[in-house]
Amino acid sequence: MPHTPLIQTTANHIQSLLSGEGSGHDWWHVYRVWQNAKAIANNEQADLFIVELAALLHDIADHKFHNGDDTAGPRAARAWLESLQVEEPTIQHICLIIKEISYKGAGTSSAMSTLEGRIVQDADRLDAIGAIGIGRAFAFGGHKGREMYNPDIKPVLHENFEAYKTASAPTINHFYEKLLLLKDRMHTKTAKAMAEERHQFMEAFLKQFYHEWDGL
Ligand code: ADP
Ligand code: NI
Repeated sequence: MPHTPLIQTTANHIQSLLSGEGSGHDWWHVYRVWQNAKAIANNEQADLFIVELAALLHDIADHKFHNGDDTAGPRAARAWLESLQVEEPTIQHICLIIKEISYKGAGTSSAMSTLEGRIVQDADRLDAIGAIGIGRAFAFGGHKGREMYNPDIKPVLHENFEAYKTASAPTINHFYEKLLLLKDRMHTKTAKAMAEERHQFMEAFLKQFYHEWDGL
């Protein structure tokens, strides 16, 4: 199948799989990561076909497997791409990206081994910061039944900020434990520039939040 319809068919497939998901991995998250990834790839010498497919497929299994099985995503992506007769080297590269992006193992800041992977990871992280990131964080916290903020529970800096989803800290703590750290972890110049504005917006949000908290 030519690249354009193959990407569109994949987008339709993911849309039907993830629509209406409530914990932050719904279709519109994938849609935004796809658009961010294209914007970043425009400024890089990257294989756009790989970038687009990996962005579309990066959360293919996350909605069902919250138990840390990081082989589920690559397996589901492979089955889908094989059904469309995509060539093996392309499938391998996409599965590697999905595996590396969902790796939440000990202590490492999830290295991505290819440029295409770094672009998709930047795009995914951009969707965790700024106005959208704030919305997603509170949606995730609500989904888990967390408090919005509790001045008595201080943020903790985790060795690996991906690995504490089971902790039940208030959502505001997530900003200090992960979201405010993301701008310095962007790989590409384009994502760094996009992250800067989103980061400042989160800083302004937090300032206003505390201002209102104390009725000032
Ligand atoms: P992704 O890597 O696809 O962005 P994650 O599974 O890491 O997805 O997180 C999904 C969304 O939920 C993100 O916006 C993330 O910031 C948010 N999130 C994850 N953990 C927490 C948490 N402990 N508190 C609040 N929001 C969280
Ligand atoms: Ni994602």
